[in-house]
Amino acid sequence: MLFLVAMTLEPSGSPQKLNCDVDWSLIDPEDYIRRNYLALHPDDRAIISAVRDHFSDHFQKNPGSPASGIDVGAGPNIYPALTMLPWCHDITLFERSPSNVKYLESQRDGTLDSHWDKFWDVLCENADYGALEEGPARKFQKVAKVRQGNLFDLVKGEERWDIGTMFFVAESITESFEEFRSGVSSFMNALEPGAPFAAAFMEHSLGYQVGREDFPAIDVGEREVLGILKEYAGDVNLTHFGKPGNLVRKGYTGMILACGHRNN
Ligand SMILES: C[S@@+](CC[C@H](N)C(=O)[O-])C[C@H]1O[C@@H](n2cnc3c(N)ncnc32)[C@H](O)[C@@H]1O
Repeated sequence: MLFLVAMTLEPSGSPQKLNCDVDWSLIDPEDYIRRNYLALHPDDRAIISAVRDHFSDHFQKNPGSPASGIDVGAGPNIYPALTMLPWCHDITLFERSPSNVKYLESQRDGTLDSHWDKFWDVLCENADYGALEEGPARKFQKVAKVRQGNLFDLVKGEERWDIGTMFFVAESITESFEEFRSGVSSFMNALEPGAPFAAAFMEHSLGYQVGREDFPAIDVGEREVLGILKEYAGDVNLTHFGKPGNLVRKGYTGMILACGHRNN
């Protein structure tokens, strides 16, 4: 008798790695930071500036009471939270990996590592950020809520936030297009109607290394990103960053930033 085993195969013939196949506790936050954020790369500078102006523009047009924010798949990256800092009474740093959760807690409970100063300086080129008298570290300590969780659990929209970021997550946690789609949908469903958001994606990524571990990615471009975001936001603005020869590492072709507002 012939038994058929159901299994998703990549074009190469090797099995497709799903989010649940990865041991996320193996991400080493120190090495991740060393590879990505110890120095301020020009592409990150450009991305931060665009997100800063998007959020500042939103709150100038819609002044109101302080907001709740979420950064999904925060990793050991503080800068998405910093972009939301002036307007939030709390910012949930939502992350699956226990090692990254520990790093985020250390930043909330101690003081922010000094390499984040360069990122804050870029934000302070806008007066909304410069006006924060208590400074980024104190405000971050007050508002940051570190939470270990699974992005896919947000898909039902049972909890919602007023502003959100998701940087290099949906495409960098799986090799499955369906999981990528579900990751983006989960992020969008975690946002209140009208919420401003910023989401960044590695373009055509082949995966990435942290420490000695390889982590998966799905190859997506602007068409795939826009195709999904358009279901949730009418005013998505995509910008491409990065030029061959000046990328952060090998194995991707640039970064895509999507800014917009969640549909009503
Ligand atoms: C490529 S890193 C991006 C980290 C950070 N946002 C940044 O900008 O550098 C992907 C992050 O997603 C986290 N992650 C993986 N699967 C997740 C899931 N199902 N739910 C929430 N976070 C997840 C990983 O632990 C990792 O921190």
